[in-house]
Amino acid sequence: MKTNILYHGDCIKILREKIFPESIPVVYADPPYNLSGKALNLKNNTTGGPFYKMNEKWDTFNYNDYLDFTNKWISEIKNILLPNGSLFVSCTQHNIAEIITSAKDLGLKLNNIITWYKTNAMPNITKRTFTHSTEYVCWFVKGKNWIFNYEAVKQFNPNKTKDGKNKQMRDFLDFIEIPIVQGKERFRGEEGRAIHPTQKPEVLLDLIIRASSNHDDIVLDPFLGTGTTTYVAAKLQRKWIGIEQNDEYFKISQKRMEQINPSIF
Ligand SMILES: C[S@@+](CC[C@H](N)C(=O)[O-])C[C@H]1O[C@@H](n2cnc3c(N)ncnc32)[C@H](O)[C@@H]1O
Repeated sequence: MKTNILYHGDCIKILREKIFPESIPVVYADPPYNLSGKALNLKNNTTGGPFYKMNEKWDTFNYNDYLDFTNKWISEIKNILLPNGSLFVSCTQHNIAEIITSAKDLGLKLNNIITWYKTNAMPNITKRTFTHSTEYVCWFVKGKNWIFNYEAVKQFNPNKTKDGKNKQMRDFLDFIEIPIVQGKERFRGEEGRAIHPTQKPEVLLDLIIRASSNHDDIVLDPFLGTGTTTYVAAKLQRKWIGIEQNDEYFKISQKRMEQINPSIF
């Protein structure tokens, strides 16, 4: 099976055709959240139109189609995971219920829900709910002997011992504080607008990949977007496989991978 490769197309088809059963130790998936197209007509809005949190074609399903889609891709992932493999899924309040129900129906076990607190979350525009400032990463396992590199995760604990060593994880929980991607890390178009609405921070992938895999292990992302997962995996000397169906995002992820020096593989 080919590794260190990006596939351009529908992940369900590619997972079936190109990836061997029970061959992958770690999958990170950041699927469509199905939150697009819900317009907010705010009182006193002076911007000339309704406000959309997100309005992407690839993120728009009716409810039953979303359930069906979720079930199909998680089922394909279950087939390609090694018996001790891990699946990490990024989600929000919009789809966490569908993700967990589907994964559990397919026989995966939920090990953790990591809460990502976005320190620079969007302001509370509607003033009708608590400010949304969190996303989640659900960690599922297929069998019993999953990898968890406790010592590697300890280095993410911002609190150190008096002599500067990494502390135990009593004060570093299933909770991580990271800003939404900004600055040089964010891919932007000519007018300075973010190219991808949900580009994930590299440090989030760094934590997940170090925690759940070892050198040379394969890390696969079926919804690659701008290539964050494969980029971080390559830097950590893991093998990588990415799948993305959108032309523009696929090209960005290709360019991003070209920046990696092939001598490190
Ligand atoms: C939430 S975004 C992932 C963002 C990514 N984590 C990053 O850091 O850039 C989901 C991505 O999945 C892609 N996508 C949606 N449906 C897909 C499918 N069936 N097969 C492959 N890619 C798909 C979308 O084009 C989008 O780029």
